[in-house]
Parts: sequence; structure tokens; C-alpha cells
Amino acid sequence: MNILILGGGGREHALAWAVLQNPKCDRLIVAPGNAGIAQIAECSNIDILDNTEILDFCEENSISFIIVGPEAPLENGVVDMLTEAGFLAFGPRQAAARLESSKSFTKEVCDACSAPTAAWARFTEAADAHAYIDRTGAPIVVKADGLAAGKGVIVAMSEQEAHNAIDDILGGAFGAAGSSVVIEEFMEGEEASLFVLCDGTDTLVVGTAQDHKRIGEGDTGPNTGGMGAYSPAPVLTDTVLAAAMDQIVNPTIAEMARRGTPYTGVLYAGLMIEDGRPRLVEYNVRFGDPECQVLMMRLGGQALDLMLACAEGKLAEMRVNWAPDHAMTVVLAAKGYPETTEKGSVIKGLDALKEDAFHMMFHAGTGTRDGQVIATGGRVLNATGRGATLQEARDRAYALADAVDWPDGVFRRDIGWRALG
Ligand code: AMP
Ligand code: GLY
Repeated sequence: MNILILGGGGREHALAWAVLQNPKCDRLIVAPGNAGIAQIAECSNIDILDNTEILDFCEENSISFIIVGPEAPLENGVVDMLTEAGFLAFGPRQAAARLESSKSFTKEVCDACSAPTAAWARFTEAADAHAYIDRTGAPIVVKADGLAAGKGVIVAMSEQEAHNAIDDILGGAFGAAGSSVVIEEFMEGEEASLFVLCDGTDTLVVGTAQDHKRIGEGDTGPNTGGMGAYSPAPVLTDTVLAAAMDQIVNPTIAEMARRGTPYTGVLYAGLMIEDGRPRLVEYNVRFGDPECQVLMMRLGGQALDLMLACAEGKLAEMRVNWAPDHAMTVVLAAKGYPETTEKGSVIKGLDALKEDAFHMMFHAGTGTRDGQVIATGGRVLNATGRGATLQEARDRAYALADAVDWPDGVFRRDIGWRALG
């Protein structure tokens, strides 16, 4: 079959790499792709936020299956458009994608199905929000209600920080995403991510992971899109996982179906675990980036069968063929990320890397200039390793990261510190 993947980051490189291992894939096109993806698949420059252009492209190229990587096309209704035109697509429809695009919507759904999460309140008037902080005190978490490219969350350790965050958000610092503010109880504990395929009715766990959001070693400094991840997440033991499915994910799926907006695609539950009890931090309606890289490294070609069954509503028939393995990915970022990103520096040594089922250098923000690979974004490469133990996966990932000749790149040396002890 002919398959189209929408997106051009490390997540989509990993998806493409896994899909190509499945003999069902005859032709793979990725839009827009990147320099690494271009080495294994065709790339197209169609506008992934233009649903009509995508539809025309699918018709012209006899596409049988569309996998949507990032949230923006999902929020833009690409799956609604494709499904109504008779195409099979992986991802939620627009109404279900609200689980990521509106934080207050997610909180209402959690309340309706009694899923454990932080206590919360929503405000559109700054005076009311400030008064709420005066009553609750700090630490407290202040969030722009809408999609703010991962930047609209302020974990305020003092009341002053919380007041400032309210003024920033309602004052327009995040545009329309900040027309209302959600204020949440600060949850203590250890974070982990759970990835679950959903076909509207049935669910299937496809992996757990932990990422490192902070730029600096020891998890310090500003938040980023993620500087590294590993799978599985040791904190999500079988018991905690079962509790998260029974109390959070399955009730959410049932509530979404009850509302007439069934959830399909991958649901990414960000969890906070304290004393063995999971609570929901947030949902995303897509694979995490870089978490997808470690999940695909572990799933390989079966990922396509799982995503197809998910889109066809046949998840009940599927099982994941788990290997007792571990994977780790280390993000190589351009110097200055996340504040500024210097683009255009040349990356050498990629052709000489040993890549196989245990070592993969996924590209995130790369392009080509005069036949050379150059950095085009903040997060640029994902050195990914798989092994029988997390230590082995780590050693393989870092061996790849160290083998790249890119003086303008930086990466953390301590990915996995919590799990490796
Ligand atoms: P989000 O974009 O909602 O995932 O928030 C980004 C990060 O902020 C999360 O990964 C957590 O580390 C932190 N965070 C968000 N909400 C809370 C909360 N209620 N309590 C503690 N930390 C939170
Ligand atoms: N790595 C976090 C995310 O994809 O949202």
C-alpha cells in the first residue's frame, strides 16, 4: 500500500523507519520530511495545514493510509476531511483532538468520568484569577487554556510568579491560546508517559516512556520540547499501569464515546505518580517527540499493523509482540536552544554511522545545502539506541551522539539518570 506520513521531525523519521520495515508498505511519502527522512522515503512539500491540498495529493498518489504526526493538522481537522472522503487515517478527529488543544476541556472530561487529576479552576478575568491565587497560595500551576507550543505552562513556586503568569497569559503573551487561564493544584511525584492506541471503543497500550523536559543536566534550566527519553518507564509498574488504564484512560475513552466524539489514534497520557497512585497531568493526541523514537525502536515493523488496526476499528484483535528490551534517545540540539536557534551549521560524520535495529540516528531539524547536511531547527538529531538493558541502550545512543562531528550541537550527558540510579 501507499502510505503518507504528515510531519518532518524526529517523530516522523522514527515512524517512517518503522513503517518501512513492514512488507505491507510499497511506497512511503513524508510531508515535509527532513534530510534523514529523504534518505529512506520520498518527501513532498505539500502544506500539511491545507486539508484540500492533502486530499488532492492522496487522490493523485493512490494513498491508502495516512499517519498524522503532529497536533496542528489534527486540530485543523485533517482526519475529519480524509475520513469523509473515504481515506483511512491514523489520528483523532478535530472534536476529539480537543483533549490536547483545550486544557479546560480535558479537565471537564476528567471530572465527568472521575479520572484522578489536579484540582483546577478556569478564569477569563484577571481579577478573579488573582483572587484565587490569594486564597490558594503557592506552589501552584498556571496554564494558558489553548495550544501554546508547549510553552503555556508556568509551575509557580511563589504567589508572585503565579500573579505574573496570569498577567502574561491573559495579557496576550500566548495569543488566542491565552484568552482563558487554567489554574491547577501543584502535584508532587514522578512523571511518566503512557501511550495507548484507541479505536473509539478498545484500547491497547503500546508503550511507556520518560522524557527529560529541561535543557540542563540534573533536570535544570528552561523547559524544552524534550532533550531525551527512554522506554520502558520503570515507575509505571504493572500495578500502576493497570490503575492508570482503569481509572484514567479507559474512563476518558468511554466518556468521549458517550459524548458522540469517540477518540481514535494514539492517546498520550502524561501522568504524575505519587506513592503508586497515578494522576493525569495532561493528554496529547499524538505520539510524543522524542518519546516516539524510543517506542518505534522497540516496536519496529509491527507499528504499522497496530496503527492500521487502530484506524480500522479492529484493535480488539491485536496484541503487541513485546521484546524484553529497552531504548533510549538523546537529543542533539543547536547551541542556544530553546531561547535562540542558530540555523545553517554543517553536520558531518553522519554517513559513517553504524545504523541497524539497535542504533539509529533519527533526524529532527535537518536539511541539505550543497550536498551537505545542515541544522534547520532547535532539536536537530536524535541518537537512539536499543539493548537488552537500559545501560546497553544508553551506551549505544551515546556512542552515536559522540560519533557525530557537529561543533554547534549540544546534548545532555545524563539522560536516564533517574532510572539508571
Ligand atoms: P503540560 O504542558 O501540561 O504537560 O505541562 C508541562 C509540565 O509542567 C509537565 O510535564 C509537568 O512537569 C508540569 N506540570 C503541569 N501541570 C502540573 C501540575 N498540576 N502539577 C505539577 N506539575 C505540573
Ligand atoms: N516530548 C513531549 C511532547 O512531545 O509533548
